Formats: sequence, structure tokens, C-alpha cells
Amino acid sequence: MTTQPKSLTILPDDLDRERLPRHVAVIMDGNGRWAKNRHLPRIMGHQRGVDSLKDLLRCCKDWGIQALTAYAFSTENWGRPVPEVEFLMTLFERVLRRELAEMVAEGVQIHFVGDLACLPASLQEEINRAMAATAHNQKIQFVVATNYGGRREIIQACRSLAQRVQTGELQPEDIDERQFEHHLYTVGLPDLDLLIRTSGEMRVSNFLLWQVAYAEIYVTDTLWPDFDRNAFHEALRNFQHRQRRFGRL
Ligand code: IPE
Ligand code: IPE
Ligand code: MG
Repeated sequence: MTTQPKSLTILPDDLDRERLPRHVAVIMDGNGRWAKNRHLPRIMGHQRGVDSLKDLLRCCKDWGIQALTAYAFSTENWGRPVPEVEFLMTLFERVLRRELAEMVAEGVQIHFVGDLACLPASLQEEINRAMAATAHNQKIQFVVATNYGGRREIIQACRSLAQRVQTGELQPEDIDERQFEHHLYTVGLPDLDLLIRTSGEMRVSNFLLWQVAYAEIYVTDTLWPDFDRNAFHEALRNFQHRQRRFGRL
């Protein structure tokens, strides 16, 4: 990881602390292209991408952002070649094991969302250990979307609502947006304010489909392994120039 200039460990003074996004999500795209540009195997891009995520998390914590959600693996990413998928699963496990003590010490509350039951058992164990060890931390909520799909999240919310209706706990007419949100993985997090996608692709790729409703979307051509504090600073500056109207005038 590149060492950040001292000036970037505190909130840059051209940003308004009162108007920071409370919840930022990031589609960490472009690892493969970063590696290809350097004639390296794709997995080297994933490896470098971990450093970017680690620094973004620390930056969000330093600058006072309450929640960061990172898209690590989509329900569609199983379609990649087996060695790449296996590398990613091992990488997630290794990084979790290596970083847990630091996250505990720094007050990070880590949470994994997605269809976790399909992940390798040893990764599930690390996930459970990390979530339990950081459950009472309060500095920042860090959500890692792993085997995550926005459509799947909505379907599972529908299923659990349907079950509650079936048992008579809930009437169909009780189901409103608030009830629905209670059954999403993001329950308890602030509303999503800013969605960042690196490497230029103008699509959502099945990420946070419900939550993105009124988020501001920022797409940068920077590839994920090159996304540093300066790039995040630029994203926040751009965000603070947006006029959020929420359908009003
Ligand atoms: C994103 O980088 C990381 C994951 C999807 C796990 P990519 O691997 O999609 O990189 P590109 O898009 O091929 O450059
Ligand atoms: C989105 O990136 C998923 C993650 C970053 C984990 P992809 O590279 O999988 O998305 P597409 O295939 O370009 O839509
Ligand atoms: Mg990609």
C-alpha cells in the first residue's frame, strides 16, 4: 500500500463535514484490467485490490463516514474460471485472518452480506469469527458483499415476509417499504448516499438494487487497484456538488 500524505489523514478542508455521505458503497471493478495492463495474471490485480479496500476503509473511518459497503463477489462471479474463483475465496479467508486484530483494535464492525451458506466452510468460519469479534465496535460499519446479488436479496426478503404472513404474524396490507427494508441485508445501516464504481463501466451489476433508489452514482475510469485517497476525495467533492432533489423541486 502506498503511504498517504499526512494531509490526507484528516478530512480535506474543501469538504463539508456536515454534508458527507453517511453510507458509501463501492463496486470494486477493474482488477483484471489493472493486471493485464502490467502483463500480470489477473489474480495479482485482486491481490492489489485488497490494499485499496483496506485504505478506503481506514479513510472512511478517519474522515467520519459511518458505513462502507464493498462488493467483493457477486452471485454471477461463480461463472468465472474455477482457479480465479478459488483464488478469490482463499484470498478473502487469508485477508480476514490477517486483518482481524487490526479491525478489532480500530473499532471496525465488520459484517458480511450475501448468500453466505454457499461459501467454502473454512471461509464461513472466518466470517463468523470476524463478525462476532467486532460486533460491539462502533467507529465504522464495514459491510462486505460476498456471493451477493441484489435480486437474490429481494427474493429472500419476499420469502421471509411470505413466511410471516403464512404464520399469521403479519397481514399482507402491513407490508410497506419500511417492513420490506427490515428484511434486507442492509437493515440498520444508514440509507445509501453514494455508490462509486471504478473502471468506467456504467452499470450496477446486480448490486444494492433496492438501496440504490436515491443514491448518487459516481463512476470513475480509475481502476480499483489505483483507487486511493485522492480518488476518494475527488468522489466526495463531486458528491458534495450534486443537488439531491428526491423527486422534489
Ligand atoms: C473486480 O475486478 C473484482 C471482482 C469481480 C471480484 P474484475 O476482476 O471484474 O476486473 P475486470 O473488470 O476484469 O478488469
Ligand atoms: C461487479 O463487477 C462485481 C464485483 C465488483 C464484485 P463485475 O466485473 O463482475 O461486473 P460486470 O461483469 O462487468 O457487470
Ligand atoms: Mg469486472
